[in-house]
Amino acid sequence: MYMAAAAAVVPPSGEAAAFKLGFIGAGNLAESIARGVAKSSVLPPSSIRTAHRRPDRRAVFQSFGVRIFDSNAQVVDDSDVVIISVKPQAVKHVLLELRPFFTEEKLLVSIAAGIKMKDLQEWSGQRRLIRVMPNTPSAVGQAASVMCMGEMATKKDEERVASLFSAIGRVWKADEKYFDAITGLSGSGPAYVYLAIEALADGGVAAGLPRDLALGLATQTVLGAAAMVGGTGKHPGQLKDEVTSPAGTTIAGIQELERGAFRGTLINAVVAATKRCRELSQT
Ligand SMILES: NC(=O)c1ccc[n+]([C@@H]2O[C@H](COP(=O)([O-])OP(=O)(O)OC[C@H]3O[C@@H](n4cnc5c(N)ncnc54)[C@H](OP(=O)(O)O)[C@@H]3O)[C@@H](O)[C@H]2O)c1
Repeated sequence: MYMAAAAAVVPPSGEAAAFKLGFIGAGNLAESIARGVAKSSVLPPSSIRTAHRRPDRRAVFQSFGVRIFDSNAQVVDDSDVVIISVKPQAVKHVLLELRPFFTEEKLLVSIAAGIKMKDLQEWSGQRRLIRVMPNTPSAVGQAASVMCMGEMATKKDEERVASLFSAIGRVWKADEKYFDAITGLSGSGPAYVYLAIEALADGGVAAGLPRDLALGLATQTVLGAAAMVGGTGKHPGQLKDEVTSPAGTTIAGIQELERGAFRGTLINAVVAATKRCRELSQT
């Protein structure tokens, strides 16, 4: 689902979907996106292309129908939308090298964490740009992705990119000034939740449960609680109140969480990660 300001849903078919998609950097995230796109029929795998110096990475993409080219330049040349999916430290070098192959008809999309639009534009010479920040649950089709539009990107470009990233989860649109905070929340957030799941399971073990059962219950409880917030549209505070009976078990647990500054700690974690992201993108 694609959430713009008014939560518009972009249909994953039609004119916006008929294009060729190239990946520069056939790594983990490119693989998740390509698999999601091919599986959801946003594009047939034959419309996706990439190149890689390592045979094992070429074989992975080839195994689900992606076309493999000999060079990055060929990928750019034969794509309408080019996703830059190399590590952030390689982006400048790769874009400077590919600069002669970009034309005004092509859309450049960057998923590189911390690389700003103005640098992408300067290195590639391309003004038709969209920057996207996905997160690691893209591997299981549950990414939270945020996109921001470059000055020359069109409505059709927006729809195309929204349809691509809708194939691996949910998509929002936001101004670039929010990207450090987005990294601090949804970029780093999966790790905070992994810690929470591990700690809940440890609590179950401390209370006498077998490890497997404790981990399964902790995982499903987090999944179920997230689905309740997303599915009912109720504020999480209201859902919490609804399961918290007077002098009951849940309020006893919550009291202990508050003693450990649970909410304040999570708030501070997002703020600290945002600050660190800002520092890193300045150096
Ligand atoms: N993983 C996520 O969920 C996530 C979330 C948000 C943003 N991102 C961003 O997504 C980008 C990719 O992350 P990733 O986790 O997918 O990294 P990755 O698995 O390391 O993928 C990068 C790939 O690019 C290849 N590569 C390096 N230099 C290249 C070049 N000159 N030409 C073509 N390919 C080249 C690498 O090959 P070698 O391994 O052989 O060097 C590797 O296969 C990063 O910029 C990251 O900030 C990732």
